[in-house]
Amino acid sequence: MSSNSEREQWGSRIGLILAVAGNAVGLGNFLRFPVQAAQNGGGAFMIPYFIFFILLGIPLMWIEWGIGRHGGKHRHGSAPGMFDVIWKNSMAKYFGAIGLLISMIIMIYYTYITSWTLGFSFFSISKTYFGLTDFEQMKSFLYSYQGREVSQYFNGITFAYIMLLITFIMTFWVLFKGISRGIEKLAKIAMPMLFIFAVIIAIRVLTLGTPDPSIPENSISQGLGFIWNPDLSQLSNPQIWLAAAGQIFFTLSVGMGTIQAYASYLKPKDDIALSGLTTAATNEFAEVVLGGSIAIPIAVAFFGVSMTTQMALGGSFDLGFASLPLVFQQLPFGQFFGFMWFLLLFFAGITSSVAMGQPVISFLEDEFGMDRKKAVGIISAVVFISVHFVVFFLKYGFLDELDFWAGTFGLVVFALIETILFIWVFGADKAWAEINEGADIKIPRIFFFIMKYITPSILITITAWWLINSAIPQLLLTNAAEENVPYIWGARIFMIVIAAGLFLMVKTAWKKNEA
Ligand code: TRP
Repeated sequence: MSSNSEREQWGSRIGLILAVAGNAVGLGNFLRFPVQAAQNGGGAFMIPYFIFFILLGIPLMWIEWGIGRHGGKHRHGSAPGMFDVIWKNSMAKYFGAIGLLISMIIMIYYTYITSWTLGFSFFSISKTYFGLTDFEQMKSFLYSYQGREVSQYFNGITFAYIMLLITFIMTFWVLFKGISRGIEKLAKIAMPMLFIFAVIIAIRVLTLGTPDPSIPENSISQGLGFIWNPDLSQLSNPQIWLAAAGQIFFTLSVGMGTIQAYASYLKPKDDIALSGLTTAATNEFAEVVLGGSIAIPIAVAFFGVSMTTQMALGGSFDLGFASLPLVFQQLPFGQFFGFMWFLLLFFAGITSSVAMGQPVISFLEDEFGMDRKKAVGIISAVVFISVHFVVFFLKYGFLDELDFWAGTFGLVVFALIETILFIWVFGADKAWAEINEGADIKIPRIFFFIMKYITPSILITITAWWLINSAIPQLLLTNAAEENVPYIWGARIFMIVIAAGLFLMVKTAWKKNEA
């Protein structure tokens, strides 16, 4: 285990903060958030959103940083080892394996999604889609790029596949270079660029006024009103509360072990209280201020409220990949704005993809004593093989099935498990002391009570609600299209196989390390 004797460390605090912010700031901030807000009561959405940010997001952030740094002290960078340290029970490590499973599954499809943004940044700068002037055409361009549809625009998915290869190689190259020379370096370049691009685009959007003076009601102020005017009557609808909680989870990247993995590379007395808060705040700035000023307002200014609503109903991707390219064609220097928009999404995506790879890599390094090269080699092979299912079965809902179980339901279940283990099993006082050790700020004592009682109660409620209203219907294929059913089962079998492999590896590692 000689390769394992020196654990890696972050090079600088700013680097660490940018890396965790890079983990959190993803496609969710620029595509998912505006659509969620617009669909769930506009400004009214922000009320449950901020409530959950305080009661769920921030506490989970601290809990995950706490679990992670604590695990790191015991040379564990992934959830099986971390849970084993905080709960002296032979089951603990298997609960941790759920974290490995979730991050691994999400990484497999997130890499493919990220690669679309790279493809579309090429299409923008080269004006490939210029000339496609209505939404249906643009959608057909997008769908045939993805191989979901046959059209005159693409001959199969060769180009998409090349973009995937580039994204895949970049992601694993960064992971191969390691924590400070890979992930941290990427974040130090990609995050400032992302913010600069986002600010430039947001300013361009906010100064658009009324693009077509003959239709005065299609304006930026109308667009801002569309996303931000509160429809308070919606607050009694539980749906918007769930949507808000779901968005908080997704955007902060909590509930899958990636924050913990990053935090495990801290020194034992490094601050986590202020760093955790700073990264959460950075993410919220990128989401609410920047993400909230781009996609929806610009769509309303060009297409009007009813058309935008329709576009948003098609999902976050239709809005970002099909609607905005129509807008770029009408803007002066539109090819550059398009290029910046998709490159910004690419930076957001790749800094998240590397984060999802880290837990399994840490797992192989810490528990099997592998060197990074070998660990990265193994994981990249598994991801590479697996991503083909996602690519070729995209139109049959394979990705959606993975996204539901790992990316939506799994996050909440895992967050519930880790909260109970850290706060209730390890103990609230010890957990609080851990979070406050080396802290550069004084966390208000009220958060002790929030973490102890409120956060777990909310998590239990959401888990139960989702179990009854989404997970069970999903499991029973209630809304599945007939022709997708075999692929959905394929996706489930695939997840079971990966899960079984991970559980077995956890078992093997512990047996070996006890011997
Ligand atoms: N936060 C990311 C986004 O907004 C998505 C995400 C969820 C994520 N969980 C993650 C990214 C874990 C990295 C690691 O798009």
